[in-house]
Amino acid sequence: MILSKEMMKELMDLYGEAFYLLDSEQFVRNYEELKKAFSTIYPFFNIAYSYKTNYTPSLCRIVNKLGGYSEVVSDMEMELAIRIGVHPSKIIWNGPYKNTEKIEQLLLLGGTVNIDSIYEVSIINKIAQKYPASVLNVGIRCNFDIGDNVLSRFGFDIDSNDFKSALKLADLNNVHLINFQCHFAARTLDTWYSRVNRMLELLDTLSIIPERIDLGGGLFGKMQESLKSQFESYIPTFEEYAKVVATTFYNRFGNVDNPPVLLIEPGSALVGDCMKFASRVVNIKTIRGKTIATLLGSIYNINPTLNKKNPPIEIYSMGGEQAEYSDLDFGGFTCIETDYLYRNYKGKLAVGDMVLFSNVGSYSIVLKPPFILPNFPVLDICNGNIEVIKRMEVFDDLFHTFDFE
Ligand SMILES: Cc1ncc(COP(=O)(O)O)c(C=O)c1O
Repeated sequence: MILSKEMMKELMDLYGEAFYLLDSEQFVRNYEELKKAFSTIYPFFNIAYSYKTNYTPSLCRIVNKLGGYSEVVSDMEMELAIRIGVHPSKIIWNGPYKNTEKIEQLLLLGGTVNIDSIYEVSIINKIAQKYPASVLNVGIRCNFDIGDNVLSRFGFDIDSNDFKSALKLADLNNVHLINFQCHFAARTLDTWYSRVNRMLELLDTLSIIPERIDLGGGLFGKMQESLKSQFESYIPTFEEYAKVVATTFYNRFGNVDNPPVLLIEPGSALVGDCMKFASRVVNIKTIRGKTIATLLGSIYNINPTLNKKNPPIEIYSMGGEQAEYSDLDFGGFTCIETDYLYRNYKGKLAVGDMVLFSNVGSYSIVLKPPFILPNFPVLDICNGNIEVIKRMEVFDDLFHTFDFE
């Protein structure tokens, strides 16, 4: 996505002084490259897109069109998948809380429910008894140590009695234990090496080859050098992840009949670099020697997980007289002291300029709180066209659930 100053001005005139720019072509490229990297080595591979990372319906539709699965973590996301036409057999429901009625609904439609805790075992038991003629596709989220120094609270400890009870679901005639799943937030290659090997060791111990083995998300996506350099770890390419994971699968299952499908659940790796956020410089002030530019934007627009990284930025001069700054912080529109979008900027800037932040596609619009201002529009500017993917939010979008009487 290359933006000229003239285009930026035109977008400002049409859509206001802050907006997101979506690059859905980049999303397609990421999906296809990731798919190719893994399936070249192990052909029985598919992607389950993590909706919660960025559930923009047009992106979810792309995944469906390209043959991927929908990885959802709420009945809200499940409804979204169904509304955009995803076949229920392509929906996988993860997460620590699931509404019982909705579990039943998805299972009866042929979707997969990955259970996370023992309370779901009794729910599945009841549904299985209630509908003896329906086959229920159930997965188990497995929790084991991958050496990432995190004690994850999700899934079943594979050494626990709860896990044994979950495995017993397979004794029911109409429960199909279709999927063994895990997910870890760590994105480094060594943790992927551990997760794939530990998962396969577990399945060997249980003498199970399920239809699908799902290793979750947690891959780094593409990013510019300025962002890469802020991570302590090496940022692997899709091919490097594939070399570790798909090769292990190929070595283990290359010669077996009915090899399992290898699934991964990427979010950030697909969508991170597909969104930018543009916002106007409202003011530049100096307080006790520190220069601060206030933007019509907030850290909650671009990085609500507050990961303290400076995203890549570009400045678009909009005609005001720029001054040179050696250490300027970009502050947000909220009243939160810590609301800074970028620290220690060096370069030219003027009030009225537009600042464009890159790599803001994951955990941004889905996590933006309604604090202080409603959210800004999302524009897809692919193929030279501008499409409004999400209009600007207005007062009524936030207040219509309150009783004004
Ligand atoms: C179960 C599960 N799958 C997939 C993801 C997506 O992870 P990422 O955006 O790191 O790829 C997450 C994120 O927390 C998750 O919890």
